[in-house]
Amino acid sequence: MAESVNFSLLQATDSEIRDLIRACQSVKKEAYCVYSEFRVGAALLTEHDRHIITGCNVENASYGLTVCAERSAICSAVSRGYRKFPVIAVTSDVATRFCTPCGACRQFIAEFSPSGQVLLVKPGYQEEEYMTGTGIQIISVANLLPLGFTPNDLILAKSTL
Ligand code: THU
Repeated sequence: MAESVNFSLLQATDSEIRDLIRACQSVKKEAYCVYSEFRVGAALLTEHDRHIITGCNVENASYGLTVCAERSAICSAVSRGYRKFPVIAVTSDVATRFCTPCGACRQFIAEFSPSGQVLLVKPGYQEEEYMTGTGIQIISVANLLPLGFTPNDLILAKSTL
């Protein structure tokens, strides 16, 4: 499923990747997941000024209103004026496999980062493991959401009316 980590293809520097990993692990601690007890942390990199913006999952007694960590981070970034995110890092408490974003989040990520990358981070990932690639995995947004619905489809519909 996920591609093996090819550090030369990452759309961020080593130090940005390390910061993203640290940020998603740290914000996971803020997850409001009183119903599922499934913590998720996300951290994205802004394209131009290379800021890191984070988000965690926020659940609700009306379960369907839950906002995932990835969408929480993206909404926060967009509210601050950012629209392009080359890399978004995601972590949960699942240690036995790389936990990928849900379908809704894939669609949300693709809106702003169609050529971006998702960095999957296992819990407890240690910085010393960095260059070994153990505990992290990278997958392109294009591979996460093949044949997705895009803003361009809306334009195409208008042009055929
Ligand atoms: N969750 C995320 O935050 N991101 C995903 O991509 C998948 C699921 C959250 C939503 C909910 O709070 C909990 O994980 C269990 O579904």
